[in-house]
Parts: sequence; structure tokens; C-alpha cells
Amino acid sequence: MSKPYYITTAIDYTNAPPHIGHAYEKVLADVMTRFQRLNGREVYFLTGVDQHGQKVQKSAEKVGLSPQDFVNGVTQHFTALWEKLNVRFDGWAATTDPKHKRVVQAMLQKLHDCGQLYKASHTGFYSVRQEQFLTDKERGPDGQFGEEWGEVVELAEENWYFKLSEHVEWLKGYIRTHPDFIFPSHRANDVLNALEGKALDLCISRPIERLSWGIPLPFDEKFVNFVWFDALTNYISFAGYLAHECGNDDLPDFSKLWPADAEIIGKDILVPAHAVYWPIMLHALGFSDDQIPKLIVHGWWNVKGAKMSKSTGNVIDPSALADTFTPDGLRYYLMRDIATGYDADFSEERILNAYNKELGGGLGNLLNRTLKMANNYRSGVIKRGDFDDAMCESLRQATAEAEAAYPEKMESWSIHQGIEEAWKIVTAANGFIELTQPFKLAKDEAQSARLDAVLHHLAEAILHVAILLNPIMPVMSEKICDQLGWSLPSGFKLAELKWGILPDGHQLGEGVPLFPRVEIA
Ligand code: ME8
Ligand code: MG
Repeated sequence: MSKPYYITTAIDYTNAPPHIGHAYEKVLADVMTRFQRLNGREVYFLTGVDQHGQKVQKSAEKVGLSPQDFVNGVTQHFTALWEKLNVRFDGWAATTDPKHKRVVQAMLQKLHDCGQLYKASHTGFYSVRQEQFLTDKERGPDGQFGEEWGEVVELAEENWYFKLSEHVEWLKGYIRTHPDFIFPSHRANDVLNALEGKALDLCISRPIERLSWGIPLPFDEKFVNFVWFDALTNYISFAGYLAHECGNDDLPDFSKLWPADAEIIGKDILVPAHAVYWPIMLHALGFSDDQIPKLIVHGWWNVKGAKMSKSTGNVIDPSALADTFTPDGLRYYLMRDIATGYDADFSEERILNAYNKELGGGLGNLLNRTLKMANNYRSGVIKRGDFDDAMCESLRQATAEAEAAYPEKMESWSIHQGIEEAWKIVTAANGFIELTQPFKLAKDEAQSARLDAVLHHLAEAILHVAILLNPIMPVMSEKICDQLGWSLPSGFKLAELKWGILPDGHQLGEGVPLFPRVEIA
């Protein structure tokens, strides 16, 4: 049996509720999960929340809650959103989970035991207001640290360091010889550029007086682990790494699941976290080159060309959009209006248009018209007959071509093009109605066999669209099938998708509008 497809995403910071960028990433992962299953692959989908660190500690202090109570509250906004959007994961990675903490500590101990960690004192400039050490990158053009850092003092502090620099040459070689490490591949250059110059070791601890909200180092209790080290480890800790020695026997079998086939992240966290720290951590722990996970790097959702931010007040709430446009309407928009790897601009006009014109006017209307005609002329009963002509032939061909192209587009993260393929069938079917004019055929008894063929072709074509769109709009897909009087058998595979699913004498259901028009003032 082949290895399950292991797909994960970044784990979201729990210092604030989810925004549309978070929703996009999780929906992308969920769509790929559903597509892989439809394509016959066993899948394990892990996602979760990043609950430790300075940002959380500060946000909790501000509202007078303990950090744990604070993150529990914010985490609920994430889980409720995934429930609402039908993002169905198999494992939930919350970094305050004791299972995860045990693995992080075992991992740190392992690195310590094999001489990868050392303690050193560092003297540098420290921002009291921001509670962090500053580097030359934080200096303004005048060479000074700007106003935003408040009082800056020179401070010496002891910390634990990871020998990152020892592995940089290995990483450069790995990246050059593994073009499929990072998708899209052009991003690998960003990583190689960042690795130019003198390599530094990585500080992996924070003194407990400065930050207490983290996982204590098992060999030095005066420190907690740097939040990125803790967070990155989720991809292996929840996949069953060191499960036996950590008492995590209910987690997946690591030897079967690892490496990840897709770790989906945004472009902002590729360098240095996912493309430098993470592969080097694994390499230092003794993972071989073929045990390094693959990274899928997506672009950014902006708003009117600007970055979303709390201070600008342009943060887009995915939950409100799902209320207006239905969860599947939002999923559809998020997948059709961006190309994986590139940025997109959120626009209310575009989501409104996608919903009203494409889903309502294109797909919904096609389904409605078809069901109405079939019910009026044939009491909803499909007759296959033996009538055939060039128009029927051409609709079957458009369907077959779209179906042949679809899996490759989906498999290669070109979800928007996978959708375009499904849409070619919608367009062909709507054109087929204009050409064949079933409302005229119905008035002529001599055209009866032809009308049967037309209605059968329409219902069958719509069914194929519903199946192709299933990973993107699982609920709507099921409702369409339902209205067609058919249900997708569990374990149905794309490979079984052939023309002629609806049998002779099949009874269609009633048409109920699936995408009622949305008006926005
Ligand atoms: O970075 N458009 O968490 P996060 C698209 N906890 N994607 C976006 C986005 C936007 N406008 N804004 C954020 C973290 N993202 C860490 C990750 S992983 C071990 C730890 C993406 O809540 C972002 O790129 O800031 C990241 O992949 C994810 O949302 C979580 O971002
Ligand atoms: Mg971020």
C-alpha cells in the first residue's frame, strides 16, 4: 500500500481571531485533501494553532487573562470557523497540548545530547518597550534605532544556541539538488539568496523572566523554548514522532506518515523559518534527505492593494462572508480568484459577482432549467433511448476533455484551473440548451426521442460538474447530486467517472435554487 498523503498547514497564531488569509490557507488544504481522496489516495490532514510566545503573553496580559485562558478563547474562533467552512482535518495541532510539549522537550534533549546546542552570553541592544534584542536590520537610514523601539539599552544575556551554521552548506546543496522541495520553484532562489554571507547560529531560548509562556528547556529550567522551534515541531510531534517514548501512542504511525507531502505556508514564513530552520532542525536530528518535507508556498490576500492590518482596520472576516455568500460560496471565491503561489486582492465586488453570476447565473440556473424542463416534459424521468447527433456528441466530448484535464491541474496546485475545467462543462451545457432548444422540441411529438437525449445529456453533464466541484464546494456538490436524485457513493473515485452514470428510467428530484441572489447596498 502506498504511503498516505500527509498534508499540513501553518499553525495560526492565537493572539487574534482568524482573517481571510487564514481561511484561504485552510480551505486550500481541505480542497487538496478532498481532491486526493476523490483521486483514490489515502490522506492525513493536520492543522492547528500556535499558542505560545511573546505576542500571546502580551495580549493576555492586556485583557487580564491567564495565557491559557486567553488562547483557549481565541482558539475557539478558529475551530468554529473550520467547522463552518467544512474544513475537515484528521489531526488537531494545538501547541499547548501536553503530547506536543513532551515531544518538543524530547527533541530538545536529543539535540542537546548530540552536541547541537550550547549556552553563550550575548551582548546587544535591547528594546525595553518591544522586549527584544535588535540587530543592524532594525537601524534606520541614520544608523539609529527609531522611535518605535522606545528606550534601547545595551544588555548582556545568556541563552541557548542551536548550531545552525554547521548545516548551512548541507542545506544549500539540498536545495540545489531537490527542485521539488519548494513550490513554486522560483522561491528557492529567495532561500539561496538569504543563505549568502556569514551563517549565524540560532538563539533557541528566552530567559523565563522575559518570557514564561513557552515550553521549558528540559535541561535548563531557567529558559523556555523560542516559539518558532516549538511551532515548527508540530508537523512531526502530531504525526507520531517519538510517540512511543513520549507516551503518545494514540497518534499516527510516524514511519508510515512521514515525510509531509505538503506543508502549506504563506510566503512570509518561508525564510528563514520553514526553508532554513526547519530542514536544518530535521537534518540535525538525523533525518535523511528523503525525509525532508515539501513546502507549498502561497501568496498573500491583500485588500485594495494594501496589506491587511488591525491598525488600518481593513481586516476581512471570513465568517461574515460565509454568512452572506454561504460557506461554499466563500470557498469557491477563495479558490477561483487566486493562483497558488501568487497574491490576490480581496474585492467585495468580485465575490458578489462570483456568487451571483457564476454560481447562481451559470451553474445554479443550468441545474434549475434542466430540472424544470425534465419535470414538466417527462415527470423527471430520464430516458436514454438511442437518439444521437453532433450536438450531443460535442457535449460529451467537452465533458470528457474537461475531466481528463482536471486531475492534473488539481494535483499541481492549479486549483483555479481545475475549476475552469469544470466550468467548461457548465458553459458547454448552457450552450447546448441554446442550440437544441428543448422547449421547442417539447412542442413537437416527432422530436420526442431527441428531447429525451437532450434532457439525459444535460442531467448527466451537470452530475459530472458536481463531482469535479466536490472538493471545492462539498455541500453544494451534494445538494446538486441530491436534486439529480443521485448520491455520490462513499469511496467513489475519479477514475470511475465515465459518461453514462444515470441509468435509463432514472428519476430526477425537484429543483430548489441553491444560490439565492445576494444584494449588497
Ligand atoms: O505565521 N493572505 O501564524 P499567522 C494569505 N504561527 N495568507 C496569510 C495572510 C494573508 N493576508 N496572512 C497570514 C504564523 N497568512 C505562525 C506559523 S507554522 C509552524 C507557524 C498565512 O497566524 C501565513 O502566511 O501569522 C501563515 O501561513 C498562516 O496564514 C498563519 O499565519
Ligand atoms: Mg503572520
